[in-house]
Amino acid sequence: MSSNDLIVSLDIGTSKVRVIIGEISNGAINIIGVGSANSDGIRKGAIVDIDQTVQSIRSAVDHAERMVGISISEVYVGIAGNHIALQSNHGVVAVSNEDREIGEEDIERVLQAAKVVALPPEREIIGLLPKQFLVDGLTGIQDPRGMIGVRLEVECTIITGTKAAVHNLMRCVEKAGLRIAPSGIVLMSLASGMMALTKDEKMMGTVLADIGAGATTIAIFEGGSLAAVSTLPIGGDYVTSDICYGLKTQTEHAEMIKLKYGCARIDDAAPDVAFKVMRVGTNAEKEFSQADLAAIIEPRMQEIFQMIRQEVKRLGHLDKLNGYVLTGGSVTMPGVLSLAQVELESSVRIAVPDFIGVRDPSYSSGVGMIQYVTKYVRYRGSSSGPKKAAKSKSAASPAAASKPGVFEWVKNMFKEFI
Ligand SMILES: Nc1ncnc2c1ncn2[C@@H]1O[C@H](COP(=O)(O)OP(=O)(O)OP(=O)(O)O)[C@@H](O)[C@H]1O
Ligand SMILES: [Mg+2]
Repeated sequence: MSSNDLIVSLDIGTSKVRVIIGEISNGAINIIGVGSANSDGIRKGAIVDIDQTVQSIRSAVDHAERMVGISISEVYVGIAGNHIALQSNHGVVAVSNEDREIGEEDIERVLQAAKVVALPPEREIIGLLPKQFLVDGLTGIQDPRGMIGVRLEVECTIITGTKAAVHNLMRCVEKAGLRIAPSGIVLMSLASGMMALTKDEKMMGTVLADIGAGATTIAIFEGGSLAAVSTLPIGGDYVTSDICYGLKTQTEHAEMIKLKYGCARIDDAAPDVAFKVMRVGTNAEKEFSQADLAAIIEPRMQEIFQMIRQEVKRLGHLDKLNGYVLTGGSVTMPGVLSLAQVELESSVRIAVPDFIGVRDPSYSSGVGMIQYVTKYVRYRGSSSGPKKAAKSKSAASPAAASKPGVFEWVKNMFKEFI
């Protein structure tokens, strides 16, 4: 990859819109800019107000642009939500070459064939994950190029979403004055999985749970591949709302108290750490201890972990599981890890991006997207790609970079997932 290409990711979350600018220099990623803005127009992870969402995107982008001194024109945008579905599919073609040697063109054709699937009219394909190739019935092939055969097959997973959700996402980005890069809609679970999970974890069966503000997104990786995804309409906002009722205070105040004093385990909370709360409908303040607060938070967090476990069971993956990896802003709270270990009855760890400036689980999806795009969408780059012009207002335009050849992409997919 040429030096100093820029990749911009956009994560439109329920609490925050986050923009991350990654600079790719000789294949290594540096995070050079971050912008965030409070999110309006998103409920439980879904866009419910386009104009408000556009405003939030614009302010997050402006923030990142000011930090780096560039003008952002193109972005990779994350997609998530309960409209996302996975389905297995199979593509078959006859090898075209007269000498029966499989070439890149055959691979491209078989992948196109695998995309031919009967979908309900309201759904569309967002992505394709190849799992294995078969040549004349021989399974387990990652690289069929140069092999001799008559029949080339591919087994893959197709990622689909509703046209309405994809449309709303694209509309918001475009109305914010940005272009979506080619292949620029990225499944956030896949991106976070790339950031957060090791190859072995993906192989052995791991649940990646992103506990955000309005939603908890579950992604199950098994056999090296993404096996299931699901979104629960519950997250940190649920905890904040309980604090509101429990302490009888305003939402904003409850959120501030949660961030400052919140603890997910009553046993870990300090009874002597106290804070005052302005109560709704009065001018009076009342004092509470961290232990009082933990008594409200713990049952809610327990419930979230129980729902995660139930969902993994419903999806049929509970028995073959190696463990859980947690990410998303809500896992920052002290005590979450030990509570999760008890509730999930399995090994659990927390994943945090390992880059300066974004060492926080709420940045996992955004950082993961930069890694994903670097590896699968743009890793070859080109000399005509965007460069960071020192301190000048250059356009960060990822689409200008050349896309990888289809086979390079497939091969990298296998390296990552198999
Ligand atoms: N230190 C902390 N203690 C407790 N909660 C925290 C802490 N830091 C962040 N949170 C919570 O994390 C949530 C935000 O997480 P995140 O930024 O991952 O969500 P989002 O991406 O905006 O929303 P979603 O993914 O649900 O659409 C909020 O509910 C916030 O209260
Ligand atoms: Mg999120």
